[in-house]
Amino acid sequence: MLATRALSFSYPDSPVLKDLTLDFSQYNVTGIIGANGCGKSTLFMNLSGILRPQNGEVLWNGIPLDYSKKGLRALRQNVVTVFQDPDQQIFYTDVASDIAFSLRNLGVDEAEIKRRTELALQMVDARHFRDKPIQCLSFGQKKRVAIAGAIVMESDYLLLDEPTAGLDPSGRRQMLDIISTIVAQGKHIVISSHDIDLIYQICDGIYVLSDGNIVSSGTPQQVFVQREMLEKAGLEQPWLAKLHSEAGLPLCKTEQELVSILRGYDMSKII
Ligand SMILES: Nc1ncnc2c1ncn2[C@@H]1O[C@H](COP(=O)(O)OP(=O)(O)OP(=O)(O)O)[C@@H](O)[C@H]1O
Ligand SMILES: [Mg+2]
Repeated sequence: MLATRALSFSYPDSPVLKDLTLDFSQYNVTGIIGANGCGKSTLFMNLSGILRPQNGEVLWNGIPLDYSKKGLRALRQNVVTVFQDPDQQIFYTDVASDIAFSLRNLGVDEAEIKRRTELALQMVDARHFRDKPIQCLSFGQKKRVAIAGAIVMESDYLLLDEPTAGLDPSGRRQMLDIISTIVAQGKHIVISSHDIDLIYQICDGIYVLSDGNIVSSGTPQQVFVQREMLEKAGLEQPWLAKLHSEAGLPLCKTEQELVSILRGYDMSKII
């Protein structure tokens, strides 16, 4: 179980996260949304033990996080983070070694490393550039490598900070598939993204962060009908929620659901 209790974090002279009590075990996919600079990446760095809160705590399995080398090593086998900037987590010049880095560190046997690496390369569609030096890859390609390096860990929690930023539409669709596959294995995902339609579609729980405070939380259907709150937080409604708020259509979770409803809908009801 991954959670925070009354967590506050400041950079020198700059308070960022304020008294956050969050539980990431209650949902399969938890979305953290908020405007630029509201503290999402800082929260992810607190959850992965890179930053340490001045007040409150990160809870792992119900107990405050152990920041010793051993404690952090244990955490990072179970809570794996893909950071916003792929350059922050790329260590090798060749793709396969980079993806396998954490598994080798843990002493996983080579046959298993090969199996997981091949599977991850396929999941993120990176096989065609696997032989290029990493420094020659595009931003989106590096992002795919970073995501693959996290997938191979098969951790209980996967934290994805802006996973689709820099990915093309097919990369975005692959990300949706990856998330569905991981959730089907009973694992938890925490995701931050400015892609509000993606968040609406894939999350079953949402926290809205504004200036370091949680200003709303709940299911996507509860949070995304609150247009004023979202605007104050510098966000906007997903297009499916807009259709509900502005045109009086039923609140659908997916485009397919909307299409099937519209097929049998009396269009004169639309305002
Ligand atoms: N190393 C740092 N030292 C001091 N202040 C920092 C540092 N990193 C971030 N900040 C500040 O902390 C605040 C939160 O930054 P953070 O990167 O967590 O926001 P974010 O929600 O992830 O934004 P974005 O949507 O742009 O990714 C910002 O005001 C930022 O300027
Ligand atoms: Mg960020």
